[in-house]
Amino acid sequence: MEKEQLTQLLREMTRNEKLGQLQQVTGDFFSDELTEATGPLSGNNLTEEDLVTVGSVLSLSGAAAAKKVQREYLAKSRLKIPLLLMADIIHGYRTIFPIPLGLAASWQPELVKETARIAAEESAVSGIHVTFSPMVDLVRDPRWGRVLESTGEDPYLNALYAKSMVEGYQGEQKTALQEYGTLAACVKHFAAYGAPEGGREYNTVNMSERELHENYLPAYKAALDAGVKLVMTSFNTVDGIPATVNKQLNREILRKDWGFDGVLISDWSAMKEVIHHGVAADERDVAQLSLEAGVDIEMMSFCYHNELNHLLEEGMLSEELLDEAVLRILTLKNELGLFENPDRFADEKKEKEVVFSTKHQEIARKAAAESIVLLENKEEILPLNKNENVLFIGSHVNSSEILGTWSWKGNPEETKTVAEILKAKQAIEQTQICEIASPFVVTETELEKALELAKHADKVVILTGETVDMSGEASSRSDIRLPKAQRELVSRLRAVNPRIVLVLFNGRPLALEEVSRDVQGLVEAWFPGTGGAEAIVNILYGKAMPQGKITMSFPRNVGQVPLYYNHFNTGRPIDHNNLENKYVSKYLDVENTPLYPFGYGLSYTTFAYKDLQVEKTVNNKILCKVTVENTGKRAGTEIVQWYVRDKMGQVVRPLQELKGFDRVFLEKGRAQTIQHEFDLSELAYVHTNLTRSWDTGEFVFMVGGNSEAVLAVNLTI
Ligand code: BGC
Repeated sequence: MEKEQLTQLLREMTRNEKLGQLQQVTGDFFSDELTEATGPLSGNNLTEEDLVTVGSVLSLSGAAAAKKVQREYLAKSRLKIPLLLMADIIHGYRTIFPIPLGLAASWQPELVKETARIAAEESAVSGIHVTFSPMVDLVRDPRWGRVLESTGEDPYLNALYAKSMVEGYQGEQKTALQEYGTLAACVKHFAAYGAPEGGREYNTVNMSERELHENYLPAYKAALDAGVKLVMTSFNTVDGIPATVNKQLNREILRKDWGFDGVLISDWSAMKEVIHHGVAADERDVAQLSLEAGVDIEMMSFCYHNELNHLLEEGMLSEELLDEAVLRILTLKNELGLFENPDRFADEKKEKEVVFSTKHQEIARKAAAESIVLLENKEEILPLNKNENVLFIGSHVNSSEILGTWSWKGNPEETKTVAEILKAKQAIEQTQICEIASPFVVTETELEKALELAKHADKVVILTGETVDMSGEASSRSDIRLPKAQRELVSRLRAVNPRIVLVLFNGRPLALEEVSRDVQGLVEAWFPGTGGAEAIVNILYGKAMPQGKITMSFPRNVGQVPLYYNHFNTGRPIDHNNLENKYVSKYLDVENTPLYPFGYGLSYTTFAYKDLQVEKTVNNKILCKVTVENTGKRAGTEIVQWYVRDKMGQVVRPLQELKGFDRVFLEKGRAQTIQHEFDLSELAYVHTNLTRSWDTGEFVFMVGGNSEAVLAVNLTI
């Protein structure tokens, strides 16, 4: 449809039809299909007649169901404006990839893009048009359960991943949504949802405007630059005003400064919750504030539906504002091609071929392997040897609950467990499997059997961690250690056999100080998804090399959080050569550093860095060179990380900021000189007037295999 035709369509719409476009409800309003609910179901006054005007539906899927709902709807709809079908496709549709925090540990935006493309294709043939992804909230507090949906604590990496996911879902910008198998993407949660106080879900966010611009906004902006079609508001307040009705955020920054002309949707009932926040007295206030702030679609509350008409009638809001919102929604429907083809890519036949295809499962295995992080490998306990007698034990040894919370279409029944993979691998000769039924209790009988088996094993591999519902939305924890029963199991087993490898399943960095001392091998497997079990077995037996690096710091204990690598020096930094000094910024009972720093991850080989050189070139670039050598016994891939410190700024600069990275594959014994060029603009930061620019002066250029182990060279620019 041409733009002119859309405007004409808008002119023909009645007030009620326009209001309908602004309403989003769950699929069960339209179909018996089970949908998933993530929030409270608030009361509504929707009549049968209203349902014929509703503009969008969430969490309805399956080609047949989607087509049926669309057809029945259009048959009744006066102007034949198709429904938009949206859903949370976060890390896969039915082929489930690792949780985003795991995917991020691959340091491979291209791989992440491919997983998004597969998720889009599976969803698109199943009738979905829009995914509520990417979630690009920057996170620094692992108590918050939703860190699993994020790509971590670094603004630079988060922005790269935001772009790769948007391109994966929508297709490249020029052809966005035109290609087969694409979805419109919705970046969320705007803004700063990742910084709730105390890590408590839905809690207040408090930060300076400069901090917001410097660290939190770049990833949303990167999604916009990649052409994202929708933005979702967040539940939290920003500067004392709920994000959903925050004009500064939504009108000034998003629409005016960044030029966003796509659809702004509220989070689930976030509009009505503005009343609980206490800046709106009732639904009428909410409707007024939300439309003024530029919210186009209300998800699962009914303030627009109940109140907008009155407000417009009374002249409290202009029809123009309503029309703008409706036009943005119609434009999205048009861009998706729904007017010409309301089924879009929904296709039962394709659905059978594409969804959970062998090819997709293969990528899921690859993604899982590349996201696994080796945290400890004392005395080279790993890789395991196929002739060793290994005891595999724990709550997750035969569990298919390894998909993560956002996997509503993922099917545990078709997810292989580690025990199943081990049994199927004939090459692995001697293994014993010992299941512990619950991660929270180890019975006396289970323990006795475990100890007996462990005594006779060459090595013990414990597979355990969080249950799926311990991380994710509404899953904040104040104690982020392993459950007590598991910590005890580790130490009891250690007493009879110290050759222990612990494989962890979880959605957040856990506080592992205690258990990391008790084990020789420590493997972070996250919630690895469909291909997880096979990837783990391949890593454990050295068929695949661990190469992931964490993108969120792992604290020593929960008292240290929030904890992140790109922090300030403070006026009284700790002096590691004089730990006696009391009056410095430190704790009395724990070090300042994390247990595992940002960017950290081991391999079965080792890498050494030498000869860092940094120079300013004639064309005003910074050229960095370093030699990386594979000093271990196997070929392997290293993620070479480049950090910069701006020694003095108009405002305080962090001690380190990631500015780039390179992936290098090296045969054993081989060395390679890696070059990395920076543009001076990459040294820019947010000044007091909130604009980005860089200053001349002294900089430290650093390179290394993680944020702590770096070589450094100073350069005055
Ligand atoms: C979550 C969103 C999600 C929405 C729809 C909310 O509770 O915060 O991330 O997209 O539900 O399921």
